[in-house]
Amino acid sequence: MNPLTEAAIKVRENAHAPYSNYKVGAAVQTDDGTIITGCNVESSSYGLTNCAERVALGAAVARGYKSFTAMAIAGKNGISPCGACRQVIWDLCGDIPITIIGDAGDKTVHMSSVLLPQPFDNSHLKQ
Ligand code: THU
Repeated sequence: MNPLTEAAIKVRENAHAPYSNYKVGAAVQTDDGTIITGCNVESSSYGLTNCAERVALGAAVARGYKSFTAMAIAGKNGISPCGACRQVIWDLCGDIPITIIGDAGDKTVHMSSVLLPQPFDNSHLKQ
């Protein structure tokens, strides 16, 4: 298995998901090949929950990375990034391949432009 995929599966174990019991792991690869991971972190005030994808991207940005080449997401029953994460992935990563890994090790790859067609982005903010 490739290192990005393995990293997403491994970090999933660290998920803090006592309310949904739905653990998610995400790993993002930077343009120099570094892999940075995140897991979902839930709150008793449910709406404050952070998804694994945004935790991974936030950690990468905090470490100074600005350019990303791929992402992997691990979860069960056909995990699919939520709408908010699709927007943030597009904003920070542009059009990258996203590998989705299910419990049985099943894998699918989708481009972020397919997951978020006709996105709102900084091109709309230009004066
Ligand atoms: N979750 C993620 O971490 N990523 C997604 O793309 C979908 C949902 C988390 C949020 C919450 O902790 C749990 O999965 C159930 O919604």
